[in-house]
Amino acid sequence: MSTARAPPTVGIIGMGYVGMATAAAFAHYGLHVIGFDVDAARREALRKGTAPIYEEGLAPLIRRAIRSRRLLLADSLEDLVARSPVVFLCIQTPSTGDGSIDLSFLAQAALDVGTAIHRLGKWRLVVVKSTVVPGTAGGMVTEVIQKSGSLRPGVDFSVASNPEFLAEGTMVRDALRPARIVIGVPDARSERSLRGLYQKFPAPLVTLPVAAAELVKYASNAMLALRVSYSNEMARIAQRAGVDIDPVLAAVGSDPRIGPLFLRAGPGYGGSCFTKDVRALASWGRDHGVETPILTATLDGNELQAHHVVDLTEEALEGLSGKRIALLGLSFKPGTSDTRDSRAYPILDGLLRRGASVVLFDPHAMESFRKGLTEGSIRAAGSHLSFAASLNEALRGADAAIVQSDWEEFRTLPARKWRDLRQRTVIDTRRTLPRDAMARAGVRWVGLGVGKE
Ligand SMILES: NC(=O)c1ccc[n+]([C@@H]2O[C@H](COP(=O)([O-])OP(=O)(O)OC[C@H]3O[C@@H](n4cnc5c(N)ncnc54)[C@H](O)[C@@H]3O)[C@@H](O)[C@H]2O)c1
Repeated sequence: MSTARAPPTVGIIGMGYVGMATAAAFAHYGLHVIGFDVDAARREALRKGTAPIYEEGLAPLIRRAIRSRRLLLADSLEDLVARSPVVFLCIQTPSTGDGSIDLSFLAQAALDVGTAIHRLGKWRLVVVKSTVVPGTAGGMVTEVIQKSGSLRPGVDFSVASNPEFLAEGTMVRDALRPARIVIGVPDARSERSLRGLYQKFPAPLVTLPVAAAELVKYASNAMLALRVSYSNEMARIAQRAGVDIDPVLAAVGSDPRIGPLFLRAGPGYGGSCFTKDVRALASWGRDHGVETPILTATLDGNELQAHHVVDLTEEALEGLSGKRIALLGLSFKPGTSDTRDSRAYPILDGLLRRGASVVLFDPHAMESFRKGLTEGSIRAAGSHLSFAASLNEALRGADAAIVQSDWEEFRTLPARKWRDLRQRTVIDTRRTLPRDAMARAGVRWVGLGVGKE
């Protein structure tokens, strides 16, 4: 790495989804950014200007940042800390088996940062961008850094919170133009630093105490997940009542007290965040003597919805045993290759359990979905599970298709093409396929949340 250039201002530790988007956004607004990830292959891919994941608009942004040398990759975390007065931690915080938050990756990164600050002997602002339960930045992260080199909080280092609200699929847009930026700061110096970094971002900046900023993230995700589970429950009622859920929810959302966003029925929410964050908050509540029945109902409702998709398919085909189903769209939503907690997993599981064989297809997420399956489950499924190389291949020979994640390729497929399905039946969990054209082509369209009158 050249040392002749102006020193980068912002350090990003953990170049996953959030780290990459954050780094690319800071570089876009003219800051110098230096990134580091423990994954050497990831560092190498980024250094070459390629984005190691598929996310709309990310690759060109990364390429531009690398070419302009506004984004550099460090070979060590210590090098990054030496060059960056402000260091963001964008480390994964997964669920443990019991639903509580696993802070071990973050703790390791905090330890490495503390050691680097100790060696450097200069004040550093450490910003926790990872989603963490209230009290983590001011508690565990501060303590680990403090202990790693007899460092004094507020003197040798400060720890702030800056939760991330971007959504995969619209990650780049969200990172460049966030609805709001929330910072939780322990002192005036940290606030000045963070305000300075976000100066050019076209977004209101909300300043809160550190633990309050941490809670904003969980409270937001819990509300969004709740709205999805609520919409799905209403969809199950609509289906039985013989009405179409979409105009119902549109009318509900037109009440300004409610608003239209996230009132949409589907196969359930997925992705890396909603389930893990709602579970982590519920678990935190349990540990601190707070009852959280709304969080529990949100989670239960989501699990139920995947079963509902399987039920709907079974009902449409009058049984699943011996049927071949094309499960289309494996990422948790279109526009991303991320398959973490995708509803395609429980739907696949339900179909196999009820004796169907399943052929899988996704335009961007085949490999990542396959990685999410255990070798044991692939072996157990045997010839009941196959992976198609194209949409046409998936449709040919299948009895029916389930559209789980509605990629444009599925929405714009000429209606007659669905006739390749032996029983000409499509379960549209998002209700975005051209139902009238399909009916005219003699294809049976079954919409989730659309009851027969
Ligand atoms: N993905 C999202 O849509 C999203 C949105 C908002 C918030 N978040 C939160 O942001 C955090 C990061 O999520 P993500 O999806 O980017 O995770 P991710 O798994 O994609 O990325 C984490 C990265 O950190 C790296 N890493 C782990 N330990 C490290 C260490 N000690 N030093 C350097 N690198 C290290 C990993 O190799 C990985 O590349 C999580 O807390 C998540 O809940 C995620």
